[in-house]
Amino acid sequence: MIVEGLLTSTNAAGQVNVAPMGPIVQGDFESLLLRPFRGSTTFSNLLETKTAVFHVVDRVDVIARAAVSRLEELPATVAATVVSGVVLADCCRWFEVEITDIDITNERSEMQARVVYTGQRRPFFGLNRARHAVIEAAILATRVHLLPREEIESALRFLTPAVAKTGGPAETDAFRMLQQHIEHHYVGEASR
Ligand SMILES: Cc1cc2nc3c(=O)[nH]c(=O)nc-3n(C[C@H](O)[C@H](O)[C@H](O)COP(=O)(O)O)c2cc1C
Repeated sequence: MIVEGLLTSTNAAGQVNVAPMGPIVQGDFESLLLRPFRGSTTFSNLLETKTAVFHVVDRVDVIARAAVSRLEELPATVAATVVSGVVLADCCRWFEVEITDIDITNERSEMQARVVYTGQRRPFFGLNRARHAVIEAAILATRVHLLPREEIESALRFLTPAVAKTGGPAETDAFRMLQQHIEHHYVGEASR
């Protein structure tokens, strides 16, 4: 099963990166198969330091902003317990991992990761349709170069009512920000 969450990774100089990531969870989070695209900061950090921290979160506004590089500042963090890295202060569960195998044959690499430490910071808020819609929209926003425009716009239209009916201000703002980000991409494309 794929679980969408946030991954913190660190380069050799200790600089932290936060990125949404959907690893394949193996067993009951005993290990993760991370699949970062080559060329991403996450990919190069994992190659460099072979450690990361995966977070189960319910703040989809942070996922949305991180997906399109609009995090104004790094969210608050605390030091990880076992690996050299950081834990997001506002997460539900976290999993500290060490990379054991790396396959870079394909554009989407595969990095097998062993969970070496796990902890919990606060309870998961609950399932919500608007939050899931924001996650879908965030994924679309990161795939504007890969998917047909029609498919993206039709998916956004489908997701809009769930946000309007079931979201709070954070979900509404995050969804609008993602819509604008996608629109700007097409405006920019048309003017090139
Ligand atoms: C919910 C969600 C899951 C994602 N999962 C992955 C993934 O498994 N692998 C990947 O390379 N990118 C994934 N992305 C896209 C990256 O987060 C996005 O490309 C990001 O800009 C890469 O960040 P980085 O360069 O800071 O590592 C996902 C995005 C979202 C919104």
